Parts: sequence; structure tokens; C-alpha cells
Amino acid sequence: MDHFVYQGDALYAEAVSLEDIAERYGTPCYVYSRATLERHWHAFDRALGDHPHLVCYAVKANGNLALLNLLARLGSGFDIVSVGELERVLQAGGDPSRVVFSGIGKQASDMRRALEVGIRCFNVESVPELERLNAVAGELGVRAPVSLRVNPDVDPGTHPYIATGLKESKFGIDIDVARDVYRRAAGLAHIDVAGVDCHIGSQLTRLSPFLDALDRILALIESLRAEGIAIRHLDLGGGLGIRYRDESPPSPAEYAAAIKKRLGDRLLEILLEPGRAIVGNAGILLTRVEYLKETAHKQFAVVDAAMNDLLRPALYQGWHEILPVGRRTGETRRYDVVGPVCETGDFLGKDRDLCIATGDLLAIRTVGAYGFAMSSNYNARPRPPEVMVDGDRLHLVRERESMAQLMAGERLLPMES
Ligand code: LLP
Repeated sequence: MDHFVYQGDALYAEAVSLEDIAERYGTPCYVYSRATLERHWHAFDRALGDHPHLVCYAVKANGNLALLNLLARLGSGFDIVSVGELERVLQAGGDPSRVVFSGIGKQASDMRRALEVGIRCFNVESVPELERLNAVAGELGVRAPVSLRVNPDVDPGTHPYIATGLKESKFGIDIDVARDVYRRAAGLAHIDVAGVDCHIGSQLTRLSPFLDALDRILALIESLRAEGIAIRHLDLGGGLGIRYRDESPPSPAEYAAAIKKRLGDRLLEILLEPGRAIVGNAGILLTRVEYLKETAHKQFAVVDAAMNDLLRPALYQGWHEILPVGRRTGETRRYDVVGPVCETGDFLGKDRDLCIATGDLLAIRTVGAYGFAMSSNYNARPRPPEVMVDGDRLHLVRERESMAQLMAGERLLPMES
């Protein structure tokens, strides 16, 4: 559920008309709904209820500072994958003791910074990483809290680019060797074994892969306990899917209930790292139709947003609903909605039945996650602004990039060379 709904024939974000937003900030423009964002975070938090838990929002889905700050105010934890994301969380007022650090390529300097600010846990993905972390923590005279990201070898049934828990994946430590690695970790002077972690993929629409992974991990935890290695928390990563078109993913409540049932009376704290399910439906991309173009085979709506603003359709054939901001009456025609970038892959939607005219506004839905976060300056296009709606209030939370920002940091060679 979200708060982008029609009032009459005009599409609104909460109590603000998208037409007004376009007038004020131009297009393309990302628009977020605070009520939707907070509703989804609470859905996870409430679903886990009294069971000790921490919802660690995956910053990679959308790292806008205002958005992170709203989540920090709710008491959210954060899942980060770079020192840049850590700095964003700190800048947004996030609590470092609620931060978990994922990712397979952590550098010594990243580890140092994370240890200095006192993060909650490192999700370690290989033996060399474990050893490096032990050394860095040793230099600082501290012990690094660690969970090993295990790869449980389950098929999440999602797009191959976003499946991460299969044997051939670069992520995690094979569950069959994880016990040995835990033994090793337990013997390292500057490592504190805290938990087990996994993340099997993104946009999962069924519970069974999550539960298969959980069963394998619980068996691992039991066998570690038998050896005297105590695991305090279980981090199941992110991955819960959302509805883009006709998917019907389990709700956070169903997901949490299934996890708690499997855990029984085990005293394990549950950590989750949802990104998409918190922020996906909380954002739309507002764009204007520049031209309606007809060829012998197709009709195109050429809009002012492009693959550099929203990469998901081009990269994963991601399907996003496209709605007119002002509904017209009349015949619909079938359009490919495309951007101005010079690539055939630059489309936002194909074969969409729309009743539109040049100059109309369109809303591309469900782009709060991996929308702006994956945007680029390709074709020298400044990135769009981001706006947060809160009831009837409108906050610009990121300005449109200027031409000066587009070229910032570049240097010419000296004239004499
Ligand atoms: N934790 C870890 C370790 C992850 O790698 C990810 C996502 C998450 C949590 C959050 O997963 P989520 O709840 O958002 O599914 N750009 C792609 C998605 C890539 C996901 C990468 N990892 C897309 O647009 O579909």
C-alpha cells in the first residue's frame, strides 16, 4: 500500500498534487511519501514484536539523507556496504551501534572507520576478510563483532542478477565450510563471534526459500553451540519482494511470523536488512511527455526521464507501472515510453496503453528503491531532484544537479602540454 492515489482525475502524493510538484521543481523529479516510508518500516518492526530484533534498513536501496534521518528517528538500524554509506548514516543522525556492515570487498580503512565509530557487527564474507579484520582490530586494540555471511545454496527464484545465495555466487561462505571458519574466528584474539548472517537474493515473492535458508542456518547454529561457540543473533538479510505488477509477495507480518515459528524458544535476536520492501513503494518518478512519435511499427512517448535516472527497466527488464498524472477521457493508444538517451535499451516501459498528449505528466511507480540510488550522469544528464511529501507539506531533499556540479572536479591539461 502507498499514498500515491487519485483525487478525482489528478494523481496526488499524500495531500499534494503531483502537478504542483512538477510546476515547482520541474521534471524529471523523484517524489517520496513519508507516510508510506514510515508505514513500511513500522510493518517490519511491529511484525517482529516482542522478540528481540533490529530492523537494519539497507541503505543501498535509497541513501538520501532526509530519508535516512526519518528512519533514524524511528530507531532504525542500517545495513551498509561501503564507508560512504556509513558516513551517510552518521550524517543523517543514525546510531552507529545499530549498523551492520555487509559486502565482500571491505578495505582496511573501511574497517578502521567502522571500528572507530563502534558499529554493531561486520558481516564477514571470506576467510581473508576475517583475517584482515582481526589484524585491523588488533592495531586499534579492540575486538570486532562478527557474523559470518553464509551461503546456504538455495534458489530464491528471482532475476539472476539479484540472486545471491546460490553456490556459484561470489557472496558469502559456503555453508558446508562455515563451521570450520567459525572455529577459526573463535580462536582469533580480536574477533568476537556475535551472529550468523545470510542474504539469498532480492525481490523474493515466496517464503519457502527464506525458510529453507533459515533451516540450514539453524542447523549450523546448533552444531556450533555443541562446540561451545555461542551465536547471539541471526541476520536474515533483506530480499522480501514487493508488488510491481501482479506479484503477491508475503507481507512482513507473514514473513516474521514464519521466522518466529521456526525459531521456537531459541533466544536468538533477529536482524533483518530490508531495503526494497521499506522504500520501494514510497517513491515515484515524475516525468513529462516531450514528444509523441509514430513510426511504421510503433508509437513512442518520448519523456524527459531516461535510463540514467531509472536503470531498472534497462538492466533487469524491471516492470514499473506508468500512470498519467492527470487522467484524460478518450481512446488509449499503445506506447513504448522511452527516454532521450542514445541507447535502444533506454525505455521505461513497453506496450503501455495510455491516453496522453504532448506535455502531459506521467508517474512511474514503485521506484523508491534502486531508483535514484542507481542513477548516473550518462549522456551528461544532471541527476533529478528528490522531494519528500509529508501530508500537505513538500520538502526538497535534494536539489536538481546543476551544470556546474555535473563538471565539478574535472580538470583540463595545461595549455603548454
Ligand atoms: N542485505 C544485503 C547484504 C544485500 O545485498 C541487499 C541487496 C539487501 C540487504 C537489501 O535487499 P532488498 O531488501 O532491497 O531486496 N538493484 C537491484 C537490487 C539489488 C539488491 C542488492 N542487494 C534491483 O533494482 O532490483
